[in-house]
Amino acid sequence: MNRRPLIAGNWKMHLTIAEAEALARAIVSGGIPADRDVMLAPPYTAMAAVNKVLQDSPVFLASQHSGWEDKGAFTGEISPVMLKDAGCSMAIIGHSERRHIFGESDQHVNQRLTGALRHGLVPILCIGETLEEREANQTFNVLETQLRGGLIGVASSEADKLVIAYEPVWAIGTGKTASEDQVQEVHAFLRTLLEKMYEKDIASQIRILYGGSVKPDNVDALMSREDVDGALVGGAALQAESFIRIIHFNQ
Ligand code: 13P
Repeated sequence: MNRRPLIAGNWKMHLTIAEAEALARAIVSGGIPADRDVMLAPPYTAMAAVNKVLQDSPVFLASQHSGWEDKGAFTGEISPVMLKDAGCSMAIIGHSERRHIFGESDQHVNQRLTGALRHGLVPILCIGETLEEREANQTFNVLETQLRGGLIGVASSEADKLVIAYEPVWAIGTGKTASEDQVQEVHAFLRTLLEKMYEKDIASQIRILYGGSVKPDNVDALMSREDVDGALVGGAALQAESFIRIIHFNQ
């Protein structure tokens, strides 16, 4: 199965509207190879400006988060209906910063994910273990709980749209990348788990991204591994030069 690679930039809580617009413009000008997908998740305030820049490009607009209700009294939340309206086609769900800083549970993550699917947003479900969990040999247990918990109620007919992002918490923003062997081992484990949860041919279509200190100098090796179908990039997505290089991996 040839899965189409996805290079995703998560700008987190960075950039003014003008800075985001300029960065999006520079990334689009760098050229997008026809054999891969690229996605940008700007802060909400810059979404309209970035959407305009991306309109005539193949780059997808994404949100960094998504609520589960269509509308209502949910101060500070954002609805999947609003995200679609703003031009998003994808949504990052359950990022470790949401889980660990803002206390999001697997149940919240599941509600957000099914809400996104209901409105035609492709969810990027983020899962990952902390350093203590890895050192206590709990990595696979933690990932299985997060994967199964996040996907409760997601039918086989919808599962092929999913994107999973493995982001070990200890590798995010730390400059420590998981080794290619560690990443491939986890991705293969996740693929096998997805095969048990859905049919084999569906599991083989689900893209599994790696995130955690992906940089121009490690992307080629990571992307050469069998079950690594893309990258979810934080810090290195904030500079045009480094993100353009990451987009052009293995070229
Ligand atoms: P860094 O690339 O800065 O480690 O961030 C990864 C990440 O959290 C992307 O969602």
